[in-house]
Amino acid sequence: MRQFVYISTAAHDVSNDDVAKILESSQRNNPDRGITGFLIFNGRNFLQLVEGSEEALLSLMNQLARDSRHSGIVRLEDIPIGTRTCEDWAMTRLRLIDPVNERRADLDAVLPVSLAPSVRRTILNFAALN
Ligand SMILES: Cc1cc2nc3c(=O)[nH]c(=O)nc-3n(C[C@H](O)[C@H](O)[C@H](O)COP(=O)(O)O)c2cc1C
Repeated sequence: MRQFVYISTAAHDVSNDDVAKILESSQRNNPDRGITGFLIFNGRNFLQLVEGSEEALLSLMNQLARDSRHSGIVRLEDIPIGTRTCEDWAMTRLRLIDPVNERRADLDAVLPVSLAPSVRRTILNFAALN
């Protein structure tokens, strides 16, 4: 199994409703594909962690590249994993709190404990961007 983390730029008109629809699709489709993970939206950018077989992830990434709700996908992490870190999350949204200086600690507390330290750092750095 592999784990990818990518960031992307949301289309300018993406709203919280759109994010809710993305979550609905993901939760409907991901169980059949054996994909788990989470999605963070900061109002301008997405960060998504996805984990599963390499084949399933590459096929999802191909599909995501054609989704007009975002663009400029950059993969930040691509690591082999023995066990899932988000096994109960078909796809869950992790929310960022205000003020921004409290975000890191807040997110750190909800990120899965078994996340690789380097992956955790990448995600926390994204969360601190304003
Ligand atoms: C940032 C972002 C993340 C997404 N993540 C997933 C995902 O994990 N799984 C998924 O099936 N679709 C995801 N989608 C949506 C897909 O691009 C696509 O719209 C959807 O899978 C279509 O399925 P549906 O016809 O069942 O709605 C994501 C879209 C965006 C913009």
